[in-house]
Amino acid sequence: MQKTTLALTAALLFVLAYSATAMHHEEGAATQPATQAATQPATQPAAQPDAHGHAAMMASINDAVAVMVPTQGNLAHGTVRFQQTDNGVAVTADITGLDPGSTHAIHVHQYGDVTGSDGKSAGGHYNPQGHDHGLPEQGARHAGDLGNLTADEAGNAHYEITAENISIAGLNNPVIGRGVIIHAKVDDGGQPTGNAGARIAMGVIGIAKGE
Ligand code: CU
Ligand code: ZN
Repeated sequence: MQKTTLALTAALLFVLAYSATAMHHEEGAATQPATQAATQPATQPAAQPDAHGHAAMMASINDAVAVMVPTQGNLAHGTVRFQQTDNGVAVTADITGLDPGSTHAIHVHQYGDVTGSDGKSAGGHYNPQGHDHGLPEQGARHAGDLGNLTADEAGNAHYEITAENISIAGLNNPVIGRGVIIHAKVDDGGQPTGNAGARIAMGVIGIAKGE
């Protein structure tokens, strides 16, 4: 009688131990797909929007800003803001650290790459349409040709221009992600890039928080 009870108890313990192991294994197998199911639907639509959703998202970007930092050996710095309007992009530059009364070229350059201390990693003038260089008074010009800003007696420049030939992130020569360069000299409109000399400040056009 006692032997039978021991044998039964041993068998029962064995079965319990086995089923516990099996359950643990199943739980492990069951949690992984549940985790994937929880994360995948949340991330995938955002990571891979359809073309329409992507275009709508880009078109909704109406404010951008470039924080301008001095290139090596220079002092000029500030901000250049970009606001999408019906007629193009309203550009507002506020730059300090300039020589009193001095005039400087301001351009959108091809790359938002300010890794080089001299600003040259920003590449040439942003010119997707293949035009010649020009001043804003000219219609056909590089998309990045924003003209010149002039400092007051304290070395501060405030400059506004509505550039009809660019957009922030639309179809018309989008500037988002490109670079902004302030030059040492005046842009005289000459070829190929206005004889504006060295690059004294540089920045990257990023999506702004807006108002
Ligand atoms: Cu330039
Ligand atoms: Zn140009």
